[in-house]
Amino acid sequence: MSVKPLKTFYMVVKVCGDALAGREHLCSSVMEIADGSMLLSFLALCCGGAAVLYVLYSWLIPAAVQYNAWLALLWHDAIVERALNILTRSTRPQRLLRAVQKKAIKGDPQSVISTIDYFCRHSEWAMNVGDEKGAILDSVVCEVSPSTALELGTYCGYSTVRIARLLPPGTKLITLEFNPDYAAVARQIIEYSGLQDKICLVEGASGDLIPKMQELFGIKTFDFVFLDHWKDRYLPDTKLLEECQLLRKGSILLADNVICPGTPDYLEYVRNSPRYESKYFKSHLEYTKVEDGLEKSVFLG
Ligand SMILES: C[S@@+](CC[C@H](N)C(=O)[O-])C[C@H]1O[C@@H](n2cnc3c(N)ncnc32)[C@H](O)[C@@H]1O
Repeated sequence: MSVKPLKTFYMVVKVCGDALAGREHLCSSVMEIADGSMLLSFLALCCGGAAVLYVLYSWLIPAAVQYNAWLALLWHDAIVERALNILTRSTRPQRLLRAVQKKAIKGDPQSVISTIDYFCRHSEWAMNVGDEKGAILDSVVCEVSPSTALELGTYCGYSTVRIARLLPPGTKLITLEFNPDYAAVARQIIEYSGLQDKICLVEGASGDLIPKMQELFGIKTFDFVFLDHWKDRYLPDTKLLEECQLLRKGSILLADNVICPGTPDYLEYVRNSPRYESKYFKSHLEYTKVEDGLEKSVFLG
């Protein structure tokens, strides 16, 4: 038998095999290139998306909500706070406290105040009276120079430190807070500012504690009361202060947030009652451009 046909058959099989192997190689190269460019497109999409979200979150939305009261409160107070609580597994007051412990000078109330203001303008909004309305609060406290002072609503202790640093020697500020978590943070911020001897933080609801002021602290009347708790409590607590005879002729009530979120029943009362002489100080909701203000009311007896 001649070997020539066998040799020819072998050659044909080899040539076909090589050709097929070449195509497979070509196909896998094409697939690799396709996979690579898809991966690049996917990465580019992710980076682009993250950049857009960052710009929206850091600049566009905060700038857009600056001028609208309800959008500002919805964005800062509901959306951002909840998202950061979940992402960081901490609360806003705890994050604010960390900023103070990291950046503020211990024992320096002004440094504590500036650190909180910086944190709230650049990192995370919070419901302190803030720097702009805080300047009005400062001027009223200095003008009254109270011997007895009460604050309703401590939160993290920002306004507490602000008021206490201006009080004359010997005066103690009593501040009421019913949220134990906020009170715990406020205590640490007050301690950090070095003003603990000038402040008495009482944990509990204003409606329960106001009638006990005489019994707990021997207070006869308050020279100055800062109202900054939940807005629907301004009017009932003012009437309670009157009933408990904790206001004297010339006592000053200073109420925050009378426009935003607003306290229409309280404003109606102090502006129309013959027992008060009332004046509005126009300003802005803390760390925004939304109109808000403080109402200063002198109790006439
Ligand atoms: C707007 S924040 C106070 C901000 C604080 N004055 C500042 O400027 O730093 C209101 C606080 O009042 C507290 N609060 C509301 N209603 C209260 C009540 N009836 N008695 C005691 N605390 C109250 C809330 O828990 C909250 O911490």
